[in-house]
Amino acid sequence: MRKPIIAGNWKMNKTPDEAAQLAKDLIPLVKDAKCDVVICTPAVDFAAVKPVIEGTNIKLGAQNVHFAEKGAYTGELSADMLKAAGCEYVIIGHSERRQYFGETDKTVNLRTVAAVKAGLKAIVCVGELKDEREGGYTNAIVSYQTKMALTNLTAEDLDNVVIAYEPVWAIGTGLTATDEQANETIGVIRKAIAEQFGEEAAAKIRIQYGGSMNGGNVKGLMSQPEIDGGLIGGASLTAEKFAQVVNF
Ligand code: PGA
Repeated sequence: MRKPIIAGNWKMNKTPDEAAQLAKDLIPLVKDAKCDVVICTPAVDFAAVKPVIEGTNIKLGAQNVHFAEKGAYTGELSADMLKAAGCEYVIIGHSERRQYFGETDKTVNLRTVAAVKAGLKAIVCVGELKDEREGGYTNAIVSYQTKMALTNLTAEDLDNVVIAYEPVWAIGTGLTATDEQANETIGVIRKAIAEQFGEEAAAKIRIQYGGSMNGGNVKGLMSQPEIDGGLIGGASLTAEKFAQVVNF
């Protein structure tokens, strides 16, 4: 009953020309996808990519959003700006932003609320570090991050939220969580959402796995009952590789 969603996170890759080309190459390869297909490009690529994917099943997403409507926030982009540039989705709280750019659970929450209230669909990232998994804290960490991120939203708002469970030790490392590990932790996240918003909202919300997901491991992960899609980094940077994931 939950429609899968596969999103590419291009991170800091592709100039506008390269981005337009990649989007063009992707269109015929994913046109029959049974899942929602999203590409989260660098902001400088929106203007080049938007006309290319117009009228196709590929949706545009951003990789971050500021929580203020406007103002003196040098270098930042508001939710309204992203919408006006053609974005439907925005990734929030990616572990790279948490690690390198001082993102906290509090700012993840502010960004998520701002994005959803402005009419964007938020892809909110949570996930444990290697030490946290080894110490046995995974369930506590992902539950806390999830509940904090969704504070001040309503159950209805969750229709416009996707959670991406991304174990930090699996991102860009070639290490993936096993199908069972990913399924189990996503189940924990769903339970946290049930505690916060009720069983119905928890049953409806889509929760992706992310972390070295590719054409080789997508089938196993997607056959797990809790896993509703993927957030794809490295394998989203070539059309054929991303299409293999999308067409799982
Ligand atoms: P990866 O990145 O697929 O390259 O591991 C996933 C992500 O960071 O969203």
